[in-house]
Amino acid sequence: MQTMLNWLDERTGIRDLMHEALYERIPGGARWRYVWGSTLVFTFSIQMITGMFLWMAYSPSTQTAWESVYYIEHVMQYGWLVRGLHHFTAQAMIVLLALHLMQVIIDGAYRAPREVNFWLGLILMLIVLGLSLTGYLLPWDQKGYWATQVATNIAGGTPMVGAEVQKLAAGGPAYGHHTLTRFFALHAGLLPFLLIAFLALHIWCFRRHGITVPNPNRAPEAYFWPDQVLKDAVVCLAILATVLVLVFWRGAELGAPADPSENFSAARPEWYFLFLFQMLKYFPGKYEMIGAMVVPGLVLGALFLMPFIGRSKFGHRANIGFVFLLLAACVGLTYIALDADWKNAGYNAAVAQAHRDATRVVELAKSPSGIGPTGALALLKADPFTQGPRLFAKNCATCHRHNGKDGMGKDIVQIVKGVETIVAGTASDLGKFGSREWIKSVITEFPKVFAPTETASFEGKPLGKHFTEGSMADWSTTHGAKLKVDEANAVVEFLADQSGREFTPPLDKALIKAGQEFFEVGTNEISESCSSCHAMHVRGAPQPLEGGGSGPDLTGYGSAKWLTSFVNNPGAKQHYGKRNRMPGFEKRMTTEEMRLLVDWMQENWYKPLDLPGPQGAEMPQGVALPAGH
Ligand code: HEC
Ligand code: HEC
Repeated sequence: MQTMLNWLDERTGIRDLMHEALYERIPGGARWRYVWGSTLVFTFSIQMITGMFLWMAYSPSTQTAWESVYYIEHVMQYGWLVRGLHHFTAQAMIVLLALHLMQVIIDGAYRAPREVNFWLGLILMLIVLGLSLTGYLLPWDQKGYWATQVATNIAGGTPMVGAEVQKLAAGGPAYGHHTLTRFFALHAGLLPFLLIAFLALHIWCFRRHGITVPNPNRAPEAYFWPDQVLKDAVVCLAILATVLVLVFWRGAELGAPADPSENFSAARPEWYFLFLFQMLKYFPGKYEMIGAMVVPGLVLGALFLMPFIGRSKFGHRANIGFVFLLLAACVGLTYIALDADWKNAGYNAAVAQAHRDATRVVELAKSPSGIGPTGALALLKADPFTQGPRLFAKNCATCHRHNGKDGMGKDIVQIVKGVETIVAGTASDLGKFGSREWIKSVITEFPKVFAPTETASFEGKPLGKHFTEGSMADWSTTHGAKLKVDEANAVVEFLADQSGREFTPPLDKALIKAGQEFFEVGTNEISESCSSCHAMHVRGAPQPLEGGGSGPDLTGYGSAKWLTSFVNNPGAKQHYGKRNRMPGFEKRMTTEEMRLLVDWMQENWYKPLDLPGPQGAEMPQGVALPAGH
């Protein structure tokens, strides 16, 4: 062993090197406050190692970026751990940078002869911020995509050369694939290279001048090894432990794949850029450049000038005052931004929706069909659970409500003179459409179901009691409301059966039969049966029922086919005919959109097999789709 070391030393001089590295003098003894530099080297090493592993699985293109990160997070062995470490260590670095900068300024470590090294440190800080900014885009998920677009747009607002700068950052006139490849090259190539180069210079300079000791006479001199190394190691391990706790507890979130066609209002930069985001709000429109460039430029300028300002005792104090002021401003702005978001119902709903989409796309990706050649976004685009609410909110919520909301879980509000009020619907609430509950309410309290229409108008004329005092409303109040419980249940069961859907608990055959009889002939007390107004071809029967008249044809009522036909053309003869007051959607929605909306209203979407509850329990293994009809 000894001979081998001697051999190596003779060829390389490694002993001197090690000695040089480890036995650096620390006058005044090892201190906890000197650890920040080492922790940054440590965290950066973690980033290099985890980054290398991420790189092995990452694929930078708009078609594959999200999919490859999904693979890392959910398929690759310990991929979630590697990604989680990378994600949270990046954030730890920002905190450590701030601490390091504070310590250097407070200790006056920027003063001669260390000015250049201080500047090197500031450059390192900018490189780390650049790494954070570029890294945020790489998963190509909604939040990264939209938050980064804000940044490249700001670049586009640069005076004179804006368009050119934006083109440079975004990789072309449009923000997209080339932005991603460019950011990846910066994130995994140029910036780490620069960081290593500047870090080497920084450490070399630091070793040249030694540590800055505020009052060296306090304690005996010590050496880097083992005194300071011990303290450094303790803090590094504490940081690693904190990061691990975050990884296990929260994990690095992967949002839904970026969708350029959607207006994503939940986009926010990472928390450490929130203060900038908030500050920009105070510089609207053409003043944006002042917030985005001038103010940060001035602050950076002041930081770079600190070594000169700090030459005098007063200047040094001013510098310390300035960083504390800066810190307070950042914390204050961040707080204002968070506070505004907490109180913003629209933002919170958008965040909740973003989480739903994120969970859902993973659910779909893990489904037996998995991510096809068209990518993960296509999964969401073809998913009734995801698209149904959006289509409802866009097309139907102008009149209908869905359990009181717009389908996406948001209230529809109107602001009059600064006061927010919830706007009520002008047509029925379709949240429970087709369920037993719905059918029962149509029969027993029709005027209540249709009450919202009283406030609606059609072709400029108010609807008034068009529906709430029609013949069905009459029947419902005179007979429907007074039905015996089993009579009502029987009709409900019969109508529910017409939809061909599955119900929990399952439909009762005896009740269906009794219901059909009631429907056709009524009872001794109620001679006016449903059939006297409604035509129907009972499911599976050879002939249509006799009867029909003023009411809509109820054949297949509540089935996907009926719903599609109704929404496409509610004024058709078999539906509301001349009494119709709802616009038809045949030309307003594509066939695919109609399918998504109808499947959603029927709760006919992919449900993972391992879900607890009736849906999961009843399905045989390996069958993906519970057929709703
Ligand atoms: C302009 C207002 C308006 C819009 C928009 C609208 N509806 Fe309607 N809807 C009505 C009215 C009024 C009725 C009552 C029956 C009629 O007039 O045909 C109705 C009836 C219905 C019914 C039958 C159940 C019931 O309440 O009678 C369904 C189902 C329905 N609408 C679904 C939809 C869907 C799905 C959309 C969106 C694609 C939609 N509606 C958009 C006004 C509207
Ligand atoms: C006196 C005639 C009449 C009788 C009897 C009658 N209905 Fe109706 N029904 C109507 C009319 C008319 C409408 C359309 C609502 C309107 O125009 O006000 C309607 C609407 C409905 C609807 C909503 C259809 C849709 O497209 O949204 C259902 C469901 C329904 N009736 C079920 C029944 C059942 C079940 C019975 C028997 C228990 C029954 N009706 C008895 C006339 C009648």
